[in-house]
Amino acid sequence: MIRVRVPATSANLGPGFDTLGLALSLYLQVDIEWSDSNIIEFAGEGVQNINSLPEHNLIWQAARRVFQAAGRQPAMKLSIHNEIPIGRGLGSSAAAIVAGLTAANELLGNPLDKKQLLALAVDMEGHPDNVVPALIGGLTVAMEDNNEVYCQKVDFPEDISVVVVVPEFELSTEVSRSVLPQQIDLKVTVNNLQRACFLLASLHNRDFSNLDKAMDDQIYQPLRKQFIPGFDQVINAARSHGAMGTALSGAGPSMLAFCSAGEQERVAQAMQEAFRNAQVKSRVFYLQADNKGTEIQII
Ligand code: HSE
Repeated sequence: MIRVRVPATSANLGPGFDTLGLALSLYLQVDIEWSDSNIIEFAGEGVQNINSLPEHNLIWQAARRVFQAAGRQPAMKLSIHNEIPIGRGLGSSAAAIVAGLTAANELLGNPLDKKQLLALAVDMEGHPDNVVPALIGGLTVAMEDNNEVYCQKVDFPEDISVVVVVPEFELSTEVSRSVLPQQIDLKVTVNNLQRACFLLASLHNRDFSNLDKAMDDQIYQPLRKQFIPGFDQVINAARSHGAMGTALSGAGPSMLAFCSAGEQERVAQAMQEAFRNAQVKSRVFYLQADNKGTEIQII
């Protein structure tokens, strides 16, 4: 049996739309083995909404893509344990895709290399910024060129904690992307370019003094906040209670804050209260960056 463990991810990190991503210490675990018929067992986050038909499961679909690429059609049993909230901007679909691809690839004796797996993952997900950190871990930069995906991994400072506040409602990436413009103003583009580069350089140099400004974004947050009651108040609450930087996590609706040790609870409580004032119930996750990415065990 093969066991894979894939981290949750937060994409964009403010200015790095469809480019930056961070793997987080919250996991999807999948056991895969040959079987006489297709079977899926599921436990954990999202269990109440799971469609038990294997064909409707993203992990199963991803595994199938690898089997097809290898010219095989075997039946399999998947045992899934999920900690990642679904449809909340924490990379649950990217984790499912990466889990299915890597588990099936290992089961077949690794016919595909990491670059081929990444290409398949981006093809299934539609953008690279969640699947890249889910696969390789850490803080990542993704670049697409001529249908190829290139990525770099940057060490994320270990002393930064990540608070994620997860509203009770789901927001689909499709809806969240539907409000984005086809064209972007030059000033807005330059704003985000400056900040994305500044953010990376600040984290690399461990100078956190202007992370808050560096995590501002003008491309998508101003348009997406219509879906998130209390968005501005949550950001302001995090800032005024000591967060180093805050952003919408991926396509939302979760909100993320970078904090120094000891500040997490104060920041999280303030963010939750701002959500409560906007009639939104939420949960808090106290996380760290995951620097390992997908881990594979043969059991
Ligand atoms: N970069 C993508 C977006 C991430 O913001 O739409 C979606 O998970």
